[in-house]
Amino acid sequence: MRILYVLIFFVSVNTCLSQKNRCSTDEYRAQLGVFKTTETNHTIDLDIANINEHTIPVVVHILYNDASQNISDERVYSQIESLNNDYNALNSEINNIPDQFIDEIGQVGFNFCLVQQDPNGNSFSGINRVYTDVESFQGFSDSMKKSNEGGVDPWDTETHLNIWVCNLSGNTLGFATMPGDVSDELDGVVIDYLYFGIDISFISPYNLGRTATHEIGHYFNLEHTFYAGCSDWDECDDTPPTSSPTYGCPSYPQTSCMTNTMTMNFMDYTDDQCMAMFTQCQAQRMRNCLLNNRSGLINNYSCTTSIEESYLSSNSFYPNPASNFLNIKESHVFVEIFDVMGRKIIELKANQRGQINISKLNCGTYFLKLQNKTKQFIKI
Ligand code: ARG
Ligand code: ZN
Ligand code: CA
Repeated sequence: MRILYVLIFFVSVNTCLSQKNRCSTDEYRAQLGVFKTTETNHTIDLDIANINEHTIPVVVHILYNDASQNISDERVYSQIESLNNDYNALNSEINNIPDQFIDEIGQVGFNFCLVQQDPNGNSFSGINRVYTDVESFQGFSDSMKKSNEGGVDPWDTETHLNIWVCNLSGNTLGFATMPGDVSDELDGVVIDYLYFGIDISFISPYNLGRTATHEIGHYFNLEHTFYAGCSDWDECDDTPPTSSPTYGCPSYPQTSCMTNTMTMNFMDYTDDQCMAMFTQCQAQRMRNCLLNNRSGLINNYSCTTSIEESYLSSNSFYPNPASNFLNIKESHVFVEIFDVMGRKIIELKANQRGQINISKLNCGTYFLKLQNKTKQFIKI
C-alpha cells in the first residue's frame, strides 16, 4: 500500500512539473493580466462562410546545414495549422480580445495548403529539403533564394507562396517581400528555422509560429501598425495609430498617439502568445492583394488534394500539438480523452469532417482513444 502511495505521489508531482513546463502560456498570461480573464471571455461571431475561402498553395524549402536545422514534417504541419487558425480568426486567443477591438476582428479566409505536386507534376509532400554548405544566411540577404549561393531557387512564384526556412544570422526572425517589391525570382517569405512552427519545449517569445503569420501579412501587402509613427500610413483606419513597435506582452490598455494601441495585432512586434488578430481592413487588403497582385496563387492545380488527406495517410490524427481541432479519418465517431493520470476527462464526437473540437481543454498532455488505439497529444 505504501509503495502505491509513493508511486502515486511521484506520478502526480511529475505530472504537475511536466504540465507546467510544457505549457505555462495561460498562467503566464493570467499573471501578466495580458487580456481579460475568463469571466469576461466572450464568443466571437464568425462568418462561417468566409472561413478557408481561398486556398494558398505553399512550398516550404528547408535549407539545412546540420540535423537540427532539418526540422520535422510535424513542425511544418504545426505552422500550417497555426496559419490556418490565425488567418480565419480561429486561434484560441481571439476570445480574449478586449471589448474595444472586438468589432475590428477580421477573418482573412485563407487556407494554406502544402502543394501536392512538384514542378514536374510528380506527387510531392510540399516540403523541399535541401542540404546547404552555408552555416548561416545573413538576415535580409537573398542568398537562400539562389542555388548558386547555397540556397534553393523558388518554385514558380506566380503560383506558389515560397517559404524558405533556414538558419538566419543576427536578430532577424524572418522577412518577406511585399507585392511588387522585387523581381519574381526573389519573391516570398524567409523564416529562421528556430521560429518556424510551434515548439512549446523551446523557451522563446517566438515559439508559436507567429513570425510566419506576420511575414505572410507583409507578403499580402500589410504594413506594420506602427508604420510612420502616429500616422495612418498602414492604410487601415481600424488599426489605431501608434508611435512605435510594442514588444513583450503588455497589459491592456496601452496608450500611444492619444489612443489605445492594438498591441495584439499580428502586425505589431509583441510576443507570439500576445498576438491575436488581424483587423477587417487588414483582412480586406490581403484579399484584394490575392485577387489582384497575387491572383496566380488561386486555384493552383497542385493544391487540389487536401492537406488533410496527406497528413492522414501517415498519421492517425493531426496536428500535434493542437490548439482548437484534432482531425481524424472518421467522421461522427466518439473519441475518449484521458489525462496523463489515466482519468477519463471527456468524450467528444467528431463532426462530419472528422474534426474534434478540443478548444475547451486546458493546455497539457492528453491521450486520445479511438477504437482501442490510444495516442498521446499536446493541447496548447
Ligand atoms: N521583425 C520581424 C518583421 O518585422 C518579425 C516580427 C515577428 N514577431 C513575432 N512576434 N513573431 O518582419
Ligand atoms: Zn514586419
Ligand atoms: Ca492605422
